[in-house]
Amino acid sequence: MRRFDDAVARMLSRAEITERAATQGFPHFADQNTGEWTLSPDGNWTGGFWGGLLALGAATTGESRYAELAGDIARRLTVRASSETAFRGFLFFYGAGVAYLTGKSAPARESALAGARGLAASFNHDAGVIPLGVEAEEADAVGQGAANIDAVPGTVPLLAWAAAELHQPELTEIARRHAERHIEYCVRTDGSVCQSAAFDEGSGALVRRYTHKGLDDDSTWARAQAWAMLGFGQAARWVSPDFLDTALTVADWWLEHLPEDHIAPWDFDAKAPQDTSATAIAAASLLKLSVLAPDRTHYRERALAMVDALVTRFLTPVGEGDTRPAGILTGGCFDYRRDLATDNELVWGDYFLMESLLVLRGVIEATAL
Ligand code: GLY
Repeated sequence: MRRFDDAVARMLSRAEITERAATQGFPHFADQNTGEWTLSPDGNWTGGFWGGLLALGAATTGESRYAELAGDIARRLTVRASSETAFRGFLFFYGAGVAYLTGKSAPARESALAGARGLAASFNHDAGVIPLGVEAEEADAVGQGAANIDAVPGTVPLLAWAAAELHQPELTEIARRHAERHIEYCVRTDGSVCQSAAFDEGSGALVRRYTHKGLDDDSTWARAQAWAMLGFGQAARWVSPDFLDTALTVADWWLEHLPEDHIAPWDFDAKAPQDTSATAIAAASLLKLSVLAPDRTHYRERALAMVDALVTRFLTPVGEGDTRPAGILTGGCFDYRRDLATDNELVWGDYFLMESLLVLRGVIEATAL
């Protein structure tokens, strides 16, 4: 595991640079050659992963400096608790919940609870789902009757955790109904996942499936598959073991379709370019599922091979004639359809690689997050 210790050290050196660059906003994506970050002023849907990365830095080093920085991110995100976007699950579980769950940070707890209350207030009780929301990244040209698989991870554990903290079991019920709806909306009969769905706002009935970021409505965008593995795995851990079958089905589809080099293409029907961020999300998910379903021993082995490929081939090295800053996870594809950051460092890719590395090194439990 020395290779993985070294990878964590490189990623922490990268985090030091990121921290100095991100005082006026939140890291979103970076040029993988120069290391220069594009920031988002309010955290967009991605800013929470920066706080989560810092919290993991605190967990692995024990240094209070990282914990203070993570607490600061959680505080800065609190203003987003009332943003009309289902992606508050990403913002507040990763940007605040992770700091609380790994370090018991009091300001992070308050921020995470504010995010959970805001998400619960957006629940459509008739339809049984938290809609994508008018402020969500993909929400231009969609109304209140839109849903995305990316709104399950983060959201489900945040609500279930808040239910226990606040003694409000109705929050777990919202998480359960929200996750169940997304099985119906997004999981195809063969176990592949479609990103988006339109639903009837009055009944919640599925109207049609489509994609915002994949190749086409019938293809399988790699991050849709990876977010489903994570979201239903978290639902199995935080809400009910009833979600485990779905989580294993979508994970098996991923493993059956992953190329031999262990790195997913941005869309499984497009082949190239690759998306290392999807691969990092899937690795973190497989590590959780290997604990939740102990008979799936190969999940941990496959996750290890994926992490090894990311570290060996995509994480920039220290020196040795390489002019790039060390510790950048290269090869992330943000949005191929819109030609946005298609071969870049992506802040959530960094987060899930770090989470996977810390699980494999025994620093954190896979199912803690
Ligand atoms: N909206 C989440 C993603 O692009 O993966």
